[in-house]
Amino acid sequence: VTSSDTFLETLSTTRAIRRFRPEDIDEEDLTRMFFAATRAPSASNRQNFRFLVLPRDGSARRARELLGAEYRRCWQAKSQRDGYDIAARDRQSRSGRMSSAMDAFVADFENIPLVVLPCLIRYKPASPLEGASVYPACQNLLLAARALGYGGVLTQWQVGVEPELRAELSIPDDIAIAGVIALGRPKGSHGPVRRLPLPQLVFESAWDRPAPWATDPDGARFSGAGPATARG
Ligand SMILES: Cc1cc2nc3c(=O)[nH]c(=O)nc-3n(C[C@H](O)[C@H](O)[C@H](O)COP(=O)(O)O)c2cc1C
Repeated sequence: VTSSDTFLETLSTTRAIRRFRPEDIDEEDLTRMFFAATRAPSASNRQNFRFLVLPRDGSARRARELLGAEYRRCWQAKSQRDGYDIAARDRQSRSGRMSSAMDAFVADFENIPLVVLPCLIRYKPASPLEGASVYPACQNLLLAARALGYGGVLTQWQVGVEPELRAELSIPDDIAIAGVIALGRPKGSHGPVRRLPLPQLVFESAWDRPAPWATDPDGARFSGAGPATARG
C-alpha cells in the first residue's frame, strides 16, 4: 500500500459524522488540523477564510445554545418535510440510521466536542462563486480530522439565528458565515460512503455522456441522490 493509496482511502471513506464521543480534541491535533485546513487555495491567494472556534465551555456557550435551539428546530422541520420521521420507524434502514444520528446530533449540540464557524471575509458584493474561497479549506479540515481519527460534518442551519450569532460573537457585517462544522471522535460505527455510480457523475465531451473510463472500483457502494423522500 503506497502513501497515495492511503491518501485516497482517507478521501473516499470520509463520511458525515454526527455522533461523537465526549472527549475533547487534543490541542496538538487541533493545531495540525487547522494548519492543514488553512493550506487550502483561495482566489488570488487572498486567504480570506477564517475559522471561529466555539469551545464547549466559557464565553462561546451562549452561541452554542443559540445554534443548538435552531438546529433542533431545523431538523424537526426537515425530518417532516423529507419523510425522515416515517423512515425512522425502520431503525435498521439507512434513512432510519441517518435519522437517529441526526436526533442525537441536534439533541446534544451544545456538548459536541468542537463547533467551528468557517467564515469568509468579503471584498466584493456577494456572489455564488465566493464559496469557492472557503469550502476547500472546510473540506481540508474535515479530511485532516479524519486522518487523525476524528470526524465531523459541515452544516448550514445557522442562517435562522445569524443576527443573534453575529451579535454574540462580534462578527462584522462584511464577514459571511459559511456554515457550522462539528468535530470530534466518532461514536459507534459508520457504513461506507455511498454515492451515485461514476458514469452518472462524470461526463466527457458532452453533457450526460459518461466518460469511457468513468467506472467504479470493485466494492464501490451506491446510493440515490437526495433525502429519504426523494428516493421513495
Ligand atoms: C453544503 C452542505 C451543506 C450541508 N448542510 C447540512 C446541514 O445543514 N445539516 C446536516 O446535518 N448536514 C449537512 N450537510 C451534510 C450532508 O448531509 C452530508 O455531507 C451528505 O449527506 C453526505 O453524507 P455522507 O458522506 O455520510 O454520505 C451539508 C453538507 C454540505 C456539503
